Amino acid sequence: MNAGIIGIGKYVPEKIMTNADFEKILDTSDEWIRSRTGIEQRHIAENEETSDLAYKAAVNALENAGITAEQVGLIIVATVTQDQNFPSVACQIQERLGASNGGAMDISAACSGFIYATTIAQQFINSNSYDYILVVGVEKLTKNIDWTDRNTAILFGDGASAAVIGKVSEGRGILSFELGADGTGGKHLKLDEKQHVYMNGREVFKFAVRQMGESALSVIEKAGLTKEDVDYLVPHQANIRIMEAARERLGLPEEKMSKTIQKYGNTSAASIGISIVDDLEAGKIKDDDIIVLVGFGGGLTWGALAMKWGK
Ligand code: UT7
Repeated sequence: MNAGIIGIGKYVPEKIMTNADFEKILDTSDEWIRSRTGIEQRHIAENEETSDLAYKAAVNALENAGITAEQVGLIIVATVTQDQNFPSVACQIQERLGASNGGAMDISAACSGFIYATTIAQQFINSNSYDYILVVGVEKLTKNIDWTDRNTAILFGDGASAAVIGKVSEGRGILSFELGADGTGGKHLKLDEKQHVYMNGREVFKFAVRQMGESALSVIEKAGLTKEDVDYLVPHQANIRIMEAARERLGLPEEKMSKTIQKYGNTSAASIGISIVDDLEAGKIKDDDIIVLVGFGGGLTWGALAMKWGK
């Protein structure tokens, strides 16, 4: 038996900020933001911290998986926007969930965090170390935004997704993974001395277009599959033009790619999980579908997973 996602949940804060709201505070336009990024609105956490978002998504994932917090052997939270450096968000939610029978840690891989954390979880499940691992991708990047910088302020939204990783039935689950990093590109996407997101958009764009396509193709090959076998692509929701380039590289039609960026903006480590939840609800992902998850982000980091969906 193989490791796979046996339950998944999300949480986004209530407040919505539309492109029209940005027109009032920045020299930008709804037309520019939509056509250059695909974003129409994003959710903003006002009175909630990263750990609050993570906790709410985790509760939903545990319920969806049909397991209790006590059954969780390890909590892995992927985030670059912790409430504080320590204790970790994982320990904060461990307390609130009452997940008293296991370890808890945060990992830092920016927008690739969900792929990294799920891959780590897969290794522990496949080695029979744990029965269930709770993976959370969560970000409150709006606390690190310079609201006067139109290059970055319009891009990000807050949110969380969580998945329970456990054993799934024969043939289903995670088939292959790829993780990558290139620290030489770290300067293109980072927190500056004021703790604001700094981004060289064009450099990140070029890297992302190249890497998303290559990583997706790599996990397909590692799984012993071809592009034609892929039913659905869930790319990190950073920019619709980057996502479209990855989709075209795989030769998939439009309806076979997840697209939630218009509703949430770029939620970094949360985006892939949030997309899966919405796509399951919409019936776009079905049992036994071959799905490819692919992401990239600060570090620079990247990662991809191929899986056969279902418990
Ligand atoms: O998960 C994190 C990863 N980050 C990303 O995925 C970001 C990757 N990069 C991108 O998504 C794109 O590079 C952006 C959306 C950030 C920018 O799009 P672009 O097509 O690369 O635009 P650009 O940076 O080449 O800028 C074109 C023009 C510039 O004006 P000038 O210098 O030509 O006069 C910008 O100042 O657009 C201007 N601009 C804006 N105009 C209106 C930049 N941001 C805005 C804005 N509204 N919000």
